[in-house]
Amino acid sequence: MSDESRLFRTAAVVPAAGRGVRLGPGAPKALRTLSGTPMLIHAVRAMAASRAVSLVVVVAPPDGATEVKNLLAEHALPQGPPHGTDVLVVPGGETRQESVKLGLDALPPGFDAVLVHDAARPLVPVDTVDAVIEAVRDGAPAVVPALPLADTVKQVEPSEDGSPEPVVATPERARLRAVQTPQGFDHDTLVRAHETVTDNVTDDASMIEQLGLTVVVVPGHEEAFKVTRPLDLVLAEAVLARRRANDGF
Ligand code: CTP
Ligand code: MG
Repeated sequence: MSDESRLFRTAAVVPAAGRGVRLGPGAPKALRTLSGTPMLIHAVRAMAASRAVSLVVVVAPPDGATEVKNLLAEHALPQGPPHGTDVLVVPGGETRQESVKLGLDALPPGFDAVLVHDAARPLVPVDTVDAVIEAVRDGAPAVVPALPLADTVKQVEPSEDGSPEPVVATPERARLRAVQTPQGFDHDTLVRAHETVTDNVTDDASMIEQLGLTVVVVPGHEEAFKVTRPLDLVLAEAVLARRRANDGF
């Protein structure tokens, strides 16, 4: 990415306020370590790795902002011109959507683009981050990295009483994509979406869809998977071990 891209000011909001219920009991998910380093620190480094990102806003667990500030101080990012990255910490909310909104509210003026990146996707490669930013810079109001699905997906009628759920439809797999983060947005469009869309959503791009605007897809990456269940921790540490081994060559 050229130095000129710096003129297109980009910030990243990193929601990290979730409990991590599906990962099981323990510290909030973003504070759990992967190969000795908190997941959140990996995620912040992944954003700061892009030369285009000049500010990262971390949305901490509601009662964990001080702990997160301390962790960030312990694991300082490379600083200084020309490509230093500033970090802000704000406390999060009850839902991911609220947490992202609190992060957006904390952004100083002057940003053209915003990335929203789950702390739970600590290993996203910088090329994926840059591809998202590039597509926003090229004029897309919203950009999502996505991959084709391996599994066939069924739509079911959820059962209340534990009886087997009937399948009601099978969407054509070739037309489905599993969507990752960072999702990238024109700053003003994302702010407007958070002000107007009140439905509960599981990603930010769907709010842009509800505004009637087009969301575009760029290729995602298998290393941008979300750490959700215990087995994902095993996979994440294996990816880190592979990176360390490859760096050795
Ligand atoms: N998140 C957040 N604020 C919330 C809920 C979630 O900032 N109130 C963040 C999480 O910290 C995570 C991202 O949103 O980085 C994606 O959410 P998810 O993977 O569902 O994480 P958790 O909600 O923590 O996990 P679980 O749903 O298993 O409790
Ligand atoms: Mg969740």
